[in-house]
Amino acid sequence: MTIVRTCLAIVLAAGEGTRMRSSRPKVLHLVAGRSLLAHVLAALRAAGGTSTAVVIGPDRDDVAAEARSALPSAQVFVQSERRGTAHAVLAARSAIEQGADDVLVIFGDTPLIQPHTLDRLRQALADGAAVAVLGFKPVDPTGYGRLVTRGDDLLSIVEHADATEKERAIALCNGGLMAFDGRVALKILQSIGNDNRKGEFYLTDAVAIARTMNLRAVALEVTEDEVSGINTKAQLAQAETVMQSRLRQAALDAGVTLVAPDTVHFAADTKLGKDVTVEPYVVFGPGVTVEDGATIRSFSHLQGAHVGPGAIVGPFARLRPGARLEQGVHIGNFVEIKEAVIEAGAKANHLAYIGDARVGEGANIGAGTITCNYDGSAKHHTDIGKGAFIGSNSALVAPVTIGDGAYIGSGSVITSNVPAGALAIGRGRQTVKEGWAQRLRDLKSLGKRK
Ligand code: UD1
Ligand code: MG
Repeated sequence: MTIVRTCLAIVLAAGEGTRMRSSRPKVLHLVAGRSLLAHVLAALRAAGGTSTAVVIGPDRDDVAAEARSALPSAQVFVQSERRGTAHAVLAARSAIEQGADDVLVIFGDTPLIQPHTLDRLRQALADGAAVAVLGFKPVDPTGYGRLVTRGDDLLSIVEHADATEKERAIALCNGGLMAFDGRVALKILQSIGNDNRKGEFYLTDAVAIARTMNLRAVALEVTEDEVSGINTKAQLAQAETVMQSRLRQAALDAGVTLVAPDTVHFAADTKLGKDVTVEPYVVFGPGVTVEDGATIRSFSHLQGAHVGPGAIVGPFARLRPGARLEQGVHIGNFVEIKEAVIEAGAKANHLAYIGDARVGEGANIGAGTITCNYDGSAKHHTDIGKGAFIGSNSALVAPVTIGDGAYIGSGSVITSNVPAGALAIGRGRQTVKEGWAQRLRDLKSLGKRK
């Protein structure tokens, strides 16, 4: 029988991130279309079996809302004053008091952390450590806490500001993630003082305190990517690069054909089926699903869209939120689809805007067709029946219904419903004036001779 250990994860997300030079709190910045905080919460959810507490700064309803939307079961705590990482953890004291076997502390600005690394930390506790810490060897260790070790044992963590020259020479640094045996977590945390250069309650002091209690502390080494915290826009861009290469690799591993992987930009939640082909220079915003056998051609931008099996999108197509393409649909160059269902086999191949609409099975939307969905204050629906043919350069003024199999003459402005099987033409009638052009030229040449 396997014994399942319970786990409480405490995510510290109180930092404002002034070095981001942004009015947005640090943890709400995006990597692959998902906030830093949501990445951390997704890793916790994937690791499984954890309850989660998120510690935020005062008056940060936006951060609280993001935590709840990314992980509805998360409990949110407010650290009313910023007095150090241990002080922040204790803001979630009531969650710790509920008594989990493992207590994980993780920073909200480390979006590249992976579920198996969290498992490794917890395994160290299962193997008898009271405190386990993630260590890494950064190229430049300035600013990080140094891990003082003897053999496999971690003796203490010394913050950069408080370290001696000799301690600063230690390559192994504190990644910031820590795990505590739940039976002693509170006792250790409460013993942490603020007698240091910054006058802060340092979580890192937990290691030396555990040792005075005759408890074991260990360090586990990981790559810099996993623990690197984001403090600047440059680091944010760096994390995006790492995340994109992970997402591309995952897509390739899942059987997606990426013709030029480095040119495709994914969102963290992009879902691509088998035998999907993505041509060079495609951007996926959040919320996109592409089903088996579909092709996304170059320079297309998709967001909040569903692409059915075998559909072809692009080149130069834009699918906006609520675009739902069913099986075998063709959406071609310079076509924009928003909040619209395009039923099986329908085609809009050139220069069109289809918004707030249904396009019936097998219908053909001619070049330059526009659904005029907005009257300046409200949006209205356009319903196009099965097999309908919309002639080029037509404006369909919503709300309007085009019946099954109906024809719309090119260049029409359609303002009232068209019955099934009918032809509607809504444009000025053509007049032809025989010889008119020649008469004009003759008049002009007379004028010149004067
Ligand atoms: C911390 C570690 C350091 C480690 C480094 C790794 C401590 C004392 N130091 O330093 O050993 O090498 O991370 O990146 O833990 N926070 C709060 N409330 C506070 C203070 C911090 O919520 O009162 C949050 C911050 O928003 C951040 C995290 O805790 O997410 C870490 O705080 P930060 O000030 O970045 O610590 P570092 O100096 O980087
Ligand atoms: Mg930091």
